[in-house]
Amino acid sequence: MKTIAVIFGGKSTEHDVSIITALASVIKPLELTKQFRVEAIYIAKDGSWYWDDRLKDISLYRSDEINDFVQKAPKVHLLFDEGLTLVKSSQFAGRKQYKRIDVVFPAMHGTHGEDGELMGVLQMASVPYVGCDMASSAVAMDKVLSKLIAQSQGLATPKFVHFKRSEYSRNMTETLERINKELTYPLFVKPAHLGSSIGITKVKTKDELNNAIEVALHYDDKALVEESVENLVEVTLPIMGNEEPIPALLEQPLLKSDEFFDFDTKYMQGGKKGGGKKGGSESGAQGYSKIPADLPKDLYDKAVELGLSVYKAVGCEGFARIDMLINGKTKELFFNEINPMPGSLYSHNWNKAGVSNVQLVTKLVEYAEARFRDQQKMATAFTTNYLKQF
Ligand SMILES: Nc1ncnc2c1ncn2[C@@H]1O[C@H](COP(=O)(O)OP(=O)(O)O)[C@@H](O)[C@H]1O
Ligand SMILES: [Mg+2]
Repeated sequence: MKTIAVIFGGKSTEHDVSIITALASVIKPLELTKQFRVEAIYIAKDGSWYWDDRLKDISLYRSDEINDFVQKAPKVHLLFDEGLTLVKSSQFAGRKQYKRIDVVFPAMHGTHGEDGELMGVLQMASVPYVGCDMASSAVAMDKVLSKLIAQSQGLATPKFVHFKRSEYSRNMTETLERINKELTYPLFVKPAHLGSSIGITKVKTKDELNNAIEVALHYDDKALVEESVENLVEVTLPIMGNEEPIPALLEQPLLKSDEFFDFDTKYMQGGKKGGGKKGGSESGAQGYSKIPADLPKDLYDKAVELGLSVYKAVGCEGFARIDMLINGKTKELFFNEINPMPGSLYSHNWNKAGVSNVQLVTKLVEYAEARFRDQQKMATAFTTNYLKQF
C-alpha cells in the first residue's frame, strides 16, 4: 500500500479553508480508494509542522483542542534520504517513529504553500507531489507574472500597469500619470499576490486612485492596476493533467454585476450574495454557480481554449483552476488569474463532468508519479576535474 502525506493548514489567511479541503476533499476520498495509507501533516498558524492521525478529525479544529494539541504534540522532522521520511518522537522515551512517504498531496491555499514554497521543499526532498511545480505555482500566485506570461503567448488579459512599492513611493506622480494615460476607467487596483479579494478596490475616478493603490501596497510590495471588464460575466475552468490537460466544465459563479467576490461571499455566507439558489445553480466552494456556464457555444469553447492555453503557457501540471472575465455585451474574453490549488479541488464541478472524488484524487496522484518518473530520467550529475586542481 502506498503512503500519501497530505499537507495542510499553514501560515496563510486561507489556513482554515485548507483544513476543510484536506480533510473533506483529499484525505477522505484517498482513504476510500483503499489503495493508500494517508498520513496527515498539519502546519499550524505559526508555521510548525505536526504529524498525527488525530489531525484527520474535524472536531479537533472546531474547538480549542487544536491549541492544546499544538502545545503538547511533538513536531515532525523531515528526513531527505533520496525521498522523504517523516520522523517524530514517540511516547516511548528515546524511541522515534519513522514513516517513508511515497507521494505528497499538498492541500494548501495561499501564501507559504500554494505559492511554490512548499513545492520547492518537496522537489529538494525528491518525492513525487501532486499539482503545479514550484515555478508554475509561483507564477500562478503572482497576478502580474501570470498575466505577463499569458500576454507573451498572445492570450488576452485586461490592460494593466504594474509597479513595486518602492517604485511607487519614489515616482508617485509619474506612475499615476502613466496609469491615467494608458488605462481607461473604471479600474481595478490589486495587490499582486493575495487572494480572496483582500486589498482589491474598484476605482471609478482619478481622485480615488492613489488611495486604492496605498491600500494594495499595504498588503503587498507589488501592485497592479487594470481596466475593469464591464457587464461582467465570470467563468472558471478546473483543469487536470500534465502534457495533455483535461478540462472539467466551464463554471459560472453567480453574483450581482456591481459587486465582486470578497472573502465573506466566497466562504462565509454560502454564496448568499450570489443571488440565491435558482434552477441549474449549484452550491460550490465559492457559493452558487452554474455548471456548465450559460454561454453561447462559440464563447464557451473559446473560454475553454483560453483556459487550456493559459495552463500550458504557465507550465501548470497536475491541477489548477483558470479564472476568466467576459464582457457580456461585447463578448470579449480575458484571462484573469490562476489558482493552483482551488478550495475543495473544485470536486463539485468534476463530479458534474463525470469524475468522482475518488477518481479525481487517484488521477492527481498518478499525474504526480508520472511527472516524477519523467524527472528521474534527466541527468543531474556531471563529472568534471574541477576539484582536482585544489
Ligand atoms: N478587471 C476586472 N474587471 C472586472 N471585475 C474584476 C476585474 N478584476 C477583478 N474583478 C472582480 O474582482 C474579483 C476579485 O479579483 P481577482 O483578481 O480574482 O482576485 P482574487 O485573487 O482576490 O480572487 C473577481 O472575481 C472579479 O469579480
Ligand atoms: Mg479571483
